[in-house]
Amino acid sequence: MALRNVVKEGDPILRKKCRVVDAVDEKIITLLDDMKETMISDSGVGIAAPQVGMLKRICVCMPDPEKPEDILEFINPVILSCEGEQEGYEGCLSVPGLVGCVKRPQHVRVEAMDRTGSKRIYDLEGFAAVVACHEIDHLDGILYIDKASDIHDPQEDEQ
Ligand code: NI
Repeated sequence: MALRNVVKEGDPILRKKCRVVDAVDEKIITLLDDMKETMISDSGVGIAAPQVGMLKRICVCMPDPEKPEDILEFINPVILSCEGEQEGYEGCLSVPGLVGCVKRPQHVRVEAMDRTGSKRIYDLEGFAAVVACHEIDHLDGILYIDKASDIHDPQEDEQ
């Protein structure tokens, strides 16, 4: 495994639509492993392939950093349905030093392929739903700052 460089906001790659993954091969497995390592190293709770410069429909979510064994790996994820609403502050490894308040569904049902190539359904609630929506947005070139209000440097909250 290896750490990859995280692309920062302003780089046009973050605004492109990612391509569907046809098959899970060794390169995809390595990419998933590298994305997980990079996310954990940068203290993120999610990361999407375009953030490491790869225009592929792949993302990783770790809604509970206390439970790294529960990391979700999504290949070609599709949101099948959304329910409810919640609002909370989000940050992004590609937009360092800022947070913003975003409205997201309370529950999402996601269909995605796992690393074995099998299609699976995931029912995600609360923060897990937030992370999944944030990461899946990245695959269509959407950043949370496009949807957020009250974008600010959280260090200023402490003053
Ligand atoms: Ni992000």
